[in-house]
Formats: sequence, C-alpha cells, structure tokens
Amino acid sequence: MPSFPFDRDPLAWLDETAARAGQVRWIGPGRLCVYDADIARTLLVDEAGRVADHSDFFGNSPTVLAPRDRQIALARDALALVQAHLRTVDCAAEAASLDAQSEWPAAGSALLLRIMRPVLAAPGRSPQFQAALDHVVATRILSRHQAPKGLVRRAWDRFRFFRAFSREPAAGRLEGDLLDALLRHAGDLEEEALVQLYAGFVFATVGSVGFALGWSLLLAAERDRIGYPRPSHLVHEALRLFPVAWLFERSTTGHDEIGGETVTPADVLTISPYAIHRHPAYWEEPLAYRPERWQGRTGRIPWFPFGAGAHSCVAAGLTLEFVGSLLAAVADRQPSVERLGGGPSLGAALAPPRFLLRLAR
Ligand code: HEM
Repeated sequence: MPSFPFDRDPLAWLDETAARAGQVRWIGPGRLCVYDADIARTLLVDEAGRVADHSDFFGNSPTVLAPRDRQIALARDALALVQAHLRTVDCAAEAASLDAQSEWPAAGSALLLRIMRPVLAAPGRSPQFQAALDHVVATRILSRHQAPKGLVRRAWDRFRFFRAFSREPAAGRLEGDLLDALLRHAGDLEEEALVQLYAGFVFATVGSVGFALGWSLLLAAERDRIGYPRPSHLVHEALRLFPVAWLFERSTTGHDEIGGETVTPADVLTISPYAIHRHPAYWEEPLAYRPERWQGRTGRIPWFPFGAGAHSCVAAGLTLEFVGSLLAAVADRQPSVERLGGGPSLGAALAPPRFLLRLAR
C-alpha cells in the first residue's frame, strides 16, 4: 500500500499543496516535486546541462532509441506523416459519424483510432496487424475505466501484440505509416523496444489526442461554453486544468541545489504541469474554467501540457489545431454531457471521467 499522501491520491495532494508549497517540496523519499514554473522551465529546457537527457516519449534503456539524432529524425518523420494525413481528414464528416449518444472517453479513443488508423497501420498491413492495433487500443486505452486485468490476461495481451508485430516487417515495408517510419530509424533496436515505441505512437495519437478532445468537450459543454468563438481557447483551458501529460520525471547529472534543496542523481525530480497550471501565483482564480483568460495572452506562459525544451512534443501545434477543429465540428451538433460517476483516470496520462455525450442528429 502506498504510504505517502502523493502516492495515495496524487491529484488531491497536488491540489492541496499547490497554493502553499514553496518552490519545491519532497513528496516521498528521493522525490522532489517542482511547483515553481521558472524552475520547471529551466530544468526542462536545461541549457546548463544540469539534467540527464531524458524523454518520457522515447524512454530509458532498454527502450531508448540512440543516439539522439535518430530520435529527432524519427520524430520529424512521424510528425510529417501525421500532419499530411490530418490535412485529408474532414472533421465535419467525422463529427457527423458520431452516434446521437456515446460514452466517453472510450468513444473519443474509438473516433481517434478511426481517424489515425491509416497513419498507424497503412491499409496494406495484414489483417493480423490491424487486429493487433485494435487490441492494443482496447487493452491499453479503452479499458482504463474497467477493473484491472489479471497477470495472465495481461501477459497474453502482450504476447498477442508481439506476435503480430514480429511477423509484420517480414511482409515487406509499406511507405507512409508510423510502423514504416519506425523501422527505417530503428537500426538494430530490440523487438521489445520497437513494440514499446510503436505503442507510444498509438498512445499519443489515439489516447492523448482523444483524451484532450474528451476534456475539452466535457468542460465546455458542462459550462455552457460550447459555442465559444475561439475553440482553440477551449482546448488551452481544458489542458490547463487537466493536462493529459500531468507529470514529467527528470534527474540531475550531479549533486545540485534545486529550489534550496540538495539533490543527487539518485533523486527523481517530479515536474507536474497539473500543479503549476493550478498555482495561484500564476493564474487568477486558478480553479475556475475561463477560456477567455487566453484572449490576447502572450509571452512566457506557465503552461506546459506538451513539455518544454528539446524534448517537448513535436506535435503540439498540430494537436491543438486538430482538436480545436474537431471540437468546433462536434459543437455544431449541439452537444450536451452527463457525468456517469467516478473521477478522472490517472495513469501515465490523465484521462477524463466517464460521461455521456448527446448530440443532435
Ligand atoms: C494531446 C496530445 C499530446 C500530448 C498531451 C503530448 C504530450 C507530450 C509531452 C508532454 C512530451 C514531452 C515529454 C518529455 O518532455 O519527457 C511529448 C513528446 C513527444 N510527443 Fe507528444 N503529445 C501529444 C500528441 C502527440 C502526437 C499526436 C504525436 C505524433 C507524432 C506526438 C509525438 C511526440 C514525440 C515524438 C515526442 C518526443 C519528443 C522528443 O523527445 O524529442 N505527440 N508529447
């Protein structure tokens, strides 16, 4: 059983401490949480080389794709593929395809899987691979609000995906999907690392984007702001209150002092956009939902839903634009929402609670 308040209920703990913690605060043995936006930015941007190079997306050994040049090349190709594909997507048609009543966030992930499928697995991929993609979405994303599965079931899920994945490259390369991009840059990366990286792309394109849409819809419809003239501000405000990537972890390269506390490379620096986005020092009425606060806001904003610095999300701008367009298209169908009980679901990503979305036909 977790014995530290942060581990028992991280969001409640961050909410409770955001206003009164200083710049930093220990949240468990060897874990220092950063509440100060400038310190967080300095650590993420890390011009002085004080922080060990790390990307939550590319991960650490054995998942790491090295050297860094390869990560950059893969990220660039992946972004180009997703960008080219999203240009072909008709958001109005996608919104029209939603049922008059759907249960979210699952329906959001299903929508994003349909939209992103051609870029995740080109139409020429084998039926087994397409099924494995469905399966990984079902087991890693859609099942978040269900009871956790047992060890045997999880091992079987993993095995199934590995089997489909390992057979696929033999079928020949297909241009134009993320698996192909991955294989081009993978070098001699082990299969386990390949699968994890591919799952990372599935999670980003289907999970994170779907959750961002879900939060934006839920908050805007609940507060009767669905017709707000700047849909992008609805997305900004949703990701301020509920940043899907709610926590980054880093460590220092040597002994260092952060916010007056001494840290060693063995300590984990926890940088939480969730805490910084709710800090009263940076935001007026931080807990209030106010999309209009984004009107004309420029300069250095203590807002990190896509990270900062060299490892920040390559798809941040694209994602904001696309979620805004989908949101505007759904808004045309006069949405209303009803919560189904339960809170946000917290894992590597912060997913919205279950809710019903009702749409005019
Ligand atoms: C709402 C949607 C998304 C959110 C909230 C999100 C969030 C993030 C965050 C916070 C990071 C930085 C992690 C760190 O500093 O350790 C990141 C990195 C990254 N994201 Fe996203 N992301 C989203 C969508 C996407 C999409 C659609 C793609 C597809 C191309 C993508 C590709 C990447 C890549 C390749 C990196 C690694 C950058 C690097 O380390 O150089 N993300 N993302």
